[in-house]
Amino acid sequence: MDERDQRTRDMATRPIGIFDSGIGGLTVLKMLRDAFPAESFIYVGDLGRSPYGSKAADTVRRYAIQITDFLLRKGVKMIVIACNTASAVAGDDVKRRAYPVPVIEVVGCGAKMACEILSKQHDKDVRIGILGTDTTVTSEVYVNKIHELVRERGLKRPDIRQQACPLFVPLVEEGWWKGDVPDEIAEYYLRSMKSFNPDVVILGCTHFPLLKEPIARTLPEGTILTDCAPAVVSEVRAILDEHGWNAPSGSSEDDSDSAGTVFYCSDTGDTFRRQAERFLDMSIEFVHHVDLEMCEDEEG
Ligand code: DGL
Repeated sequence: MDERDQRTRDMATRPIGIFDSGIGGLTVLKMLRDAFPAESFIYVGDLGRSPYGSKAADTVRRYAIQITDFLLRKGVKMIVIACNTASAVAGDDVKRRAYPVPVIEVVGCGAKMACEILSKQHDKDVRIGILGTDTTVTSEVYVNKIHELVRERGLKRPDIRQQACPLFVPLVEEGWWKGDVPDEIAEYYLRSMKSFNPDVVILGCTHFPLLKEPIARTLPEGTILTDCAPAVVSEVRAILDEHGWNAPSGSSEDDSDSAGTVFYCSDTGDTFRRQAERFLDMSIEFVHHVDLEMCEDEEG
């Protein structure tokens, strides 16, 4: 075997790194674990410093770079930013920092999902709603990305309305995914979105798919809800295939704690573990603690 083949083989056995401010990114991890059972993953939930969505862009950028450095030291073959807020304000910084390790960010993926729906509507006037955190909404990154994709694909320009729903994040972290409280908060946040009568609504925060039911109940019947996860799966697949980095089958359980995934949390891991076990429907033996401030690198 020549040196190049050896390197490809080495890369194939490495884990995929994935991070979010907390448990929201598990909605992406779940789809990736189902789609790629042979792959192993390292998941970082920055619960000690969440929520990201109400923090200054510079602060989120610093956090995202620290996590990137941590994942690079762990030898990941690819990084998935499973957080819209970090993707919105730090996507390019993370890509530069990680290069040549490929980075997938969820905002581009969410916008692609919406444009795929748009392309099936032919020449109809389409209204797109975007739900996200304050930071994501203020960055206007979804609006710009959708307009860019629409131009590239020669589609009709949609009417777009954004709505920040910051309280959805702690609600999800608390495990309050159903019942009167999420229903009432959804009703409060989505009042003007309801009268906008959107055709498609992007769940532009990875925590929000966990509140899909109350959100769907509140919006007009027939509103299509979409999120980034299926497009993330396609992008991961494309990178694995392009580089020949698909993990050999049966390798994911060799060196990881919970059937192919090692979990790190910047806070005490108990709450994280409870919610992650419930959402992923598996038992997690151990959540490692990580001090991300210690991961700050001098260079760059
Ligand atoms: N799940 C994250 C997102 O997609 C961040 C939520 C937060 O920490 O505010 O934006």
